[in-house]
Amino acid sequence: MKYIEHGKGGGPECMAVAESAIPQPAPGQILIEVVCAGVNRPDCLQRSGRYPPPPDASPILGLEVAGRVKAVGEGVTEWKVGADVTALTPGGGYAEYCVAAASHALPIPNGMDYATAAALPETWFTVWANLVDLGRLKKSERLLVHGGSSGIGLVAIQLAKHLGAECFVTVGSEEKAAFCREAGAAHAVNYRTQDFAEELKHITGGSGVDVVLDMVGAPYLQRNLASLRRDGRLVYVAFLEGSKGEADLLPVMVKRLTITGSTMRPRSLAEKTAIRDALAANIWPELERGELLPHLHARFPLAQATEAHRLMESSKHIGKIVLEVGKA
Ligand SMILES: NC(=O)c1ccc[n+]([C@@H]2O[C@H](COP(=O)([O-])OP(=O)(O)OC[C@H]3O[C@@H](n4cnc5c(N)ncnc54)[C@H](OP(=O)(O)O)[C@@H]3O)[C@@H](O)[C@H]2O)c1
Repeated sequence: MKYIEHGKGGGPECMAVAESAIPQPAPGQILIEVVCAGVNRPDCLQRSGRYPPPPDASPILGLEVAGRVKAVGEGVTEWKVGADVTALTPGGGYAEYCVAAASHALPIPNGMDYATAAALPETWFTVWANLVDLGRLKKSERLLVHGGSSGIGLVAIQLAKHLGAECFVTVGSEEKAAFCREAGAAHAVNYRTQDFAEELKHITGGSGVDVVLDMVGAPYLQRNLASLRRDGRLVYVAFLEGSKGEADLLPVMVKRLTITGSTMRPRSLAEKTAIRDALAANIWPELERGELLPHLHARFPLAQATEAHRLMESSKHIGKIVLEVGKA
């Protein structure tokens, strides 16, 4: 099969098409003939050598795919050969064939194309785990999402809307701000021209938000703590601007704040299966109804993975980037 190799790692140009044997599904796994693969920021980190895959995962890039089940491993009963699926993968998505746990796959919602379906798993698994399970976001609460126009950010806006929570976002341009408002954010702060904490204080009449979903890190810590109200939760999914710094932690005690966070990839099989089941029950029916839709910014043929990563690292995109791998 063809796949994207990234050699010893480096800039986007280190990626090239190569050939290898088709992987075989182990017990409990399915082999997927990949039609499209989603591109995620963690792929860029792995490519550059800063995010090594777990020891039991494929070293090939790619955390989500959509395609057809080509074979099933021993003990798999929930999927039949030929079924259309979208799946969270532990790696291996940038390839014509990819294995995934049968219990980490979901059906492609009715009428949805493979490219759109390939853009679902990584962001929905991550946002559900961090906003619902860790962040305990509830109806009528207020959420602040940094990086509102990212793949993760746009799903967070949709999930907040679905839960009946009010969502505020920060973004790096007026175009992104307008897009996020259109997507359902009550307010979008351009962090290049405004101080988000001051702006939020103004908008909320000084009361703040219940949950912050952050991917920026240390430079925002003090202002995140200031923006949270009593019993607030600060949830980290990344540290794009670093994880080390100094902060006055007094607000944590005074306002009984919780600071937490998580990464999806090293979670156990059972934990990811539980998230899959929650998404199947709560989110897939909404996707079926067309109520929730990922925004695809761009598609590239597999051989142009370099261009896809360049675009992602430019941060000019809004929403998801997808690789076209095989025939629909
Ligand atoms: N913990 C997990 O399990 C998990 C899973 C998936 C993804 N992630 C992380 O979540 C983040 C979003 O992922 P994604 O795939 O949705 O990425 P993405 O679409 O590339 O979005 C990242 C966005 O963050 C903003 N940004 C980039 N560099 C920044 C910087 N240095 N400072 C502040 N903002 C910056 C940019 O928007 P602006 O123009 O608005 O700045 C950019 O569009 C990534 O950091 C990724 O590693 C975590």
